[in-house]
Amino acid sequence: MTPRVFPRDFLWGVATSAYQIEGATGEGGRGESIWDRFASTPGAIADGSDGSVACDHYHRWREDLSLMRQLRVQAYRFSIAWTRVMPEGRGAVNATGLDFYDSLVDGLLEAGIRPFATLNHWDLPQRLQDQGGWSERGTAEAFVAYAEAVGMRLGDRVRDWATHNEPWCVATLGHEQGVHAPGRRDPVEALRASHHLLLSHGWAVPVLRRDSPGARVGIALNLVPGYPASPSEADREAARRFDGSFNRWYLDPIFRGSYPPDAVEDRRQAGNLPRGEMPWVEEPDLAAIAAPLDFLGVNYYSRAVLRSERMPEADNAPRSVSEAPPEERTDMGWEVYPDGLHDLLVRVQREYRPPKVYVTECGAAYDTRPGPGRRVADGSRRDFLRGHLLAAHRAIADGVPLSGFFLWTLIDNFEWQHGYTKRFGVVWLDRATQERTLKDSALWYRDVIAANAVDDSAPHVARRLA
Ligand code: FCB
Repeated sequence: MTPRVFPRDFLWGVATSAYQIEGATGEGGRGESIWDRFASTPGAIADGSDGSVACDHYHRWREDLSLMRQLRVQAYRFSIAWTRVMPEGRGAVNATGLDFYDSLVDGLLEAGIRPFATLNHWDLPQRLQDQGGWSERGTAEAFVAYAEAVGMRLGDRVRDWATHNEPWCVATLGHEQGVHAPGRRDPVEALRASHHLLLSHGWAVPVLRRDSPGARVGIALNLVPGYPASPSEADREAARRFDGSFNRWYLDPIFRGSYPPDAVEDRRQAGNLPRGEMPWVEEPDLAAIAAPLDFLGVNYYSRAVLRSERMPEADNAPRSVSEAPPEERTDMGWEVYPDGLHDLLVRVQREYRPPKVYVTECGAAYDTRPGPGRRVADGSRRDFLRGHLLAAHRAIADGVPLSGFFLWTLIDNFEWQHGYTKRFGVVWLDRATQERTLKDSALWYRDVIAANAVDDSAPHVARRLA
């Protein structure tokens, strides 16, 4: 058992998001979000639930803060609900909404926990959706005004900002596959949405820097390394296409100021760009999107394995054909593949050179329930985390400027289209009583933080395909 020690200033955190934990959707002057609307659509959420109560964090945030103190986490990544700050999406600012985050931030600082705020974790105001949402440029303009309102109020104390969380999910799951809010199924709308998300990011960066002097600004992307299922040229081509639409579609504009030409060509061939161009991209947009960042946030859960005949033309979903057996998958069906985190971090560093990287999300859904003494013996989650932390450690040894790790997630919560059926928390939530119970993985994470080290005895088996 060798302890793998992390750099002295490595930051240990947990991550959550507003709609998934806050509840109190009708309180404090909050406006309707696209997730309130989407969750009320019959059949949209697996268990017919919604985020109206969730973890009741809006009322119980002090209790959640004390959970974080028990784990001795050093940083907390949370998101701000646009609908609390600007209930109509633009215009009047709702002071009560800002007060909530103000108290939370003060509470965190008092506890010695560094707040990392994300401005958009998917809960767009419904009023903006009624005007076209992310497929319209006006939403990017509204986002900047929202960023400004938040920055002016919290910018003196929040020093770490992310504009968006996982724009791929908003664009593709929300506008192309229709499985996330706003439930649209139109590939061209999805492309427009991806551009306006990126544009709003680029526009908000200087605004946050102005209103939060000295702050560090970044974005959290869900990146999935794609591996060909075989060395055949066709499978390698499938992996290239996957990578272009999933990873490089976001990384290239942000770090290079251009969309990846091969991925644009793939879209043209798929019939999504009839004249081969993207008329919604205006001349100065790409320079704005490439605003220099202080850090890149990487959200990592699994890899994709690509096979040519299983990759239909117009579908950009990460349809992985991984043959991992059930015991090497989480409850999401996602393959447990820690090496992918290492490969991904090293690759992003080599090709894009972000000045600093955080793993802004990483975690696993396992439905381990409380046993005798209310103990939650979630060894699978602990093994998952250990494997991924060891992979992160190897990435640091290979020169990646990885500065921290935010575990997804503090507490079982509303997992989007899966409702409450998938438990990602290191804290068990009893929804009936709102009682919280630390799982074994939480205690383990606490010890990792205290030691600033992970031991490498994990029995995890890394599967590699040919
Ligand atoms: C990510 C989301 C987060 C959570 C995890 C499991 O894609 O950012 O809100 O749903 O997946």
